[in-house]
Formats: sequence, C-alpha cells, structure tokens
Amino acid sequence: MNNLPPLSAPKITVIGTGYLGATHAICMAVMGFDVLGYDVDHRKIGQLQAGVVPFYEPGLPEKLQEALTSGRLRFTTDLDEVAQFGDVHFICVGTPQAPNSSAANLTYVESAFTELAARITHKSLLVGKSTVPIGTAARLAGMVADISPLGPALEVAWNPEFLREGFAVQDTLHPDRLVFGVASAWSESMLRRAFEPLLTEGTPLIVADMPTAELVKVAANSFLATKISFINAMAEVCEATSADVSVLAAALSLDDRIGPRFLKPGLGFGGGCLPKDIRAFKHRAEQLGVGQAVSFLGEVDSINNRRRIRTVDLIRELAGGSLAGVKVAALGAAFKPNSDDVRDAPALDVARMLYLEGAAVTVYDPEANTNAHRLYPDLNYVDSLATAAEGADVVALLTEWDEFRSADPDYLGGLVNHRRIVDGRHALDAGRYISSGWEYRALGRPYQAKAAAPSAVPQRDTTPNLAL
Ligand code: UDX
Repeated sequence: MNNLPPLSAPKITVIGTGYLGATHAICMAVMGFDVLGYDVDHRKIGQLQAGVVPFYEPGLPEKLQEALTSGRLRFTTDLDEVAQFGDVHFICVGTPQAPNSSAANLTYVESAFTELAARITHKSLLVGKSTVPIGTAARLAGMVADISPLGPALEVAWNPEFLREGFAVQDTLHPDRLVFGVASAWSESMLRRAFEPLLTEGTPLIVADMPTAELVKVAANSFLATKISFINAMAEVCEATSADVSVLAAALSLDDRIGPRFLKPGLGFGGGCLPKDIRAFKHRAEQLGVGQAVSFLGEVDSINNRRRIRTVDLIRELAGGSLAGVKVAALGAAFKPNSDDVRDAPALDVARMLYLEGAAVTVYDPEANTNAHRLYPDLNYVDSLATAAEGADVVALLTEWDEFRSADPDYLGGLVNHRRIVDGRHALDAGRYISSGWEYRALGRPYQAKAAAPSAVPQRDTTPNLAL
C-alpha cells in the first residue's frame, strides 16, 4: 500500500480509543495520514502515547510503534486541540446496551458529537463509526447544526465499521468493503480523500444515504447472529435425536449457497457487538412500527442464551447430576479466541452459572483473566492450563484458543481427577480424547462412550474444519 497520501490529505482525528477507535487511529496513521486520537480516559491516552495498546489485539502493538515512530500519530485528552486539528473527525465511542432496556445507550455518541460541534470553527466533517439505531445520524446532524458556530456547514456522515476483534488490523487495512452514508457530495468527497489509499487498492465502495449506512451494520450483524443461532437450533434438534450437528454442519457447508463461515455450532455468540446490536435493532424496529419484520431476532437471542444453559446441563450430567463441590476447570473466559474481551462472553457466563450452582470453578484464559476477574471477582483464576486442570472433576472447553485445541489429552488426563470433558466449541479432536480414556461430550453431538482402554481403536473424527 502506498502510505503517502497526497498533500491535500485531510487531517484525521479519532474520538474514542477503544477496540475500534484505537485500531482506526493507528491504521490511518500507518496509511500515511496525520492523526490525533482523543479519549476522556487519561490512563488510556497515556498508555497509547507510550506505545502500549490497552487491550489484546494481535499485530496492533507493532502497528502502534510504526505509527508513533513515523511522527504521524499523537494522542490527547484536549477536545479543543481535536477541534482545531482535524478536517475529518471519526467518532468511535461505544454504544453499549442501556441499563434495564434492550435499546442502545447513545449518551456517549451524543456528547461526542455535540461537544465537538460546539468547538469546531473551520469547515470539517464529523463521521460516525459507532453502531447506532437507524435515524441517529440524521438526528445528530440536526443537533450539530443547531450547536455549531458554522451552522449546517458542519456536516455529518456515517461510515460503519465491520472489523472483527482478533483480526482488527487486517480488517482495517484491507476491509472487504467501505460504506459511506452521506448527505452531500462534499461529504462523499471528504470521505473519498480520507480513504484514498484503500480505494486506490480497489476496496469496493458503497455510497448510500445515512439511514441505509446505519442499517448495513446492524443488518450484517443480525445476519451473522442468525446464521450462528440457526446451526445451534439444529444442535437442539440433534440433541433430541441421535443426530450429530457437527456432521450436519459439515454437510450443509459444502453447499456454496450456505458456506462454512459462521456455521460453527457450540456455545454461541457473545462480545461487545452481536448480542447488543440485535437487541437494539429489534427495539428500534418496534419503535418504527416494523417490529414484526425482525421479531425473529428475539428467537436468535433466546437460542443463543439456551446454549449457555445447555452447556451447564452437560457439565452437570457428566459430574453425575449435581455440581455442588464439583471441581470444574473452565478453559477460556474471552468471548472468542485472540481477544481479551469478556463483554457478554458465553464462557464467563457458563463459569458464573457453574459457580452459582456450587461448583468449585477454576478459570484459565491466556489473555482475558484480568478483565474477567474485574467482572466476576468471585471466580478462581489461574495462570496456566495445567493449574486449571489439576484435580478437576470435569474440564469445560469454553473458548477455543489454540493452546486448548492443541493440548495433549494424555498429558491433561494425567492432571485431572476424572477424565471428563465438555467441548463447548466443537474445537477438540473427539476421537483422540475418547481413545485416551476421556468421556467426551459436546452440544448437539450424540454421547460417545469412552474407550475401554487408551489403546482402543481410534474413533473416526467427525469434527468438521469450519473456518470462522
Ligand atoms: C462482529 C462482526 O463479525 C464484525 O463484523 C463487527 O464489526 C463486530 O461484531 P466480533 O464481535 O469481533 O465481530 O466477533 P465475531 O468474529 O463476529 O464472533 C462473534 C461471536 O460469534 C463470538 O463469540 C464467536 O465465538 C461466535 N461464533 C462465530 C460462533 O459461535 N460460531 C461461528 O460460526 C462464528
């Protein structure tokens, strides 16, 4: 990629330096833009300025170093400086689920737009990247025009972000598409200048109105969540029969109209996006009088939550019917591997439910222990897989980190009290575990008795290799 944009390149600011904003700021600087990142959190800004990424994201620390060394990236907690510096301001603050409601909490977005609008005195563009309910961008544009010394000349656009945690650098430097939600030709031209390196590379661009751009994001996340819950619904059907959802998923995935991605059965989806986005979308559709059109998202959410409960059931069954005093090794806390994010994490939810039923739960996650401890300090966290497994009555694989996938069943078997494992992510080689004497259980797969002896004929591994 040519990382020297033309001299007319707009100066970029990024407001909010969480997973999305920090990645965006760093990658824009790597692409050659002058970037100023802003956050209200002084600690986070101090860390970023010192070259430390405040969360776990593979490849991002190296890109932060590169950007800081280039001199093109700085961070500040001074919003006046941001207002003066930027030509294109990307607002990347969070839109978490509101307390006691399924709606999105727009407080941070609203205050970022209005506080910035009150300070900007030269023609520039405010671009929302946060995931918001349809109609928010137009409403914010009105608020901005009312507050700004420039009036309606201070324009608003929307540019939804599709990056995945764990692949954030790749997804930002080489996205599969760009979506611009714009209300004027000038906004479009500014966004084209801000993304020129990506457009030159041939990244597909969709130019839309603002409501469509807002909808693209929630529709994409709803589709992905629905696909995951579809295969997990099939797992429920499998559980009522002797069918095997792993084999079913493998067979379905060979139809290229269906495809293998997001068809991986197991404990279901979590994280800071999918769960809250489908709830907020359903809530917004109801407000708009079209709730029926997306009422299925309520079922998608319920299927997903039932998988967590069913995982606890499987662990209880393996433990002999009660969890009281049972030692469970909970492998994983993050909502998915290669992330330390524990927001709405299925793994941590399962660990918490086990604990509430009286199990002695020991949690080990390669990266998310600290965040998990902050959320659920009552659970016991340890620093290695071996320590977690030591003396366990049941092992539960809850997040499919490579470290867990590649663990040796014989070695693990030597540490535990009972060779019993629940594979909550369909990530393990069932045959290897069974042939080394483990009782192996997975959601939506028929019970397979453990082998008579570790040297028994290996079982056929029916675990499909479904790329996520
Ligand atoms: C998601 C979207 O993919 C991304 O485009 C958007 O910008 C933000 O939300 P992310 O939250 O990083 O990204 O996670 P993603 O990789 O989509 O996984 C979401 C959850 O689904 C994880 O908990 C994962 O374990 C689960 N999952 C994914 C499955 O259970 N089965 C699958 O087949 C795929």
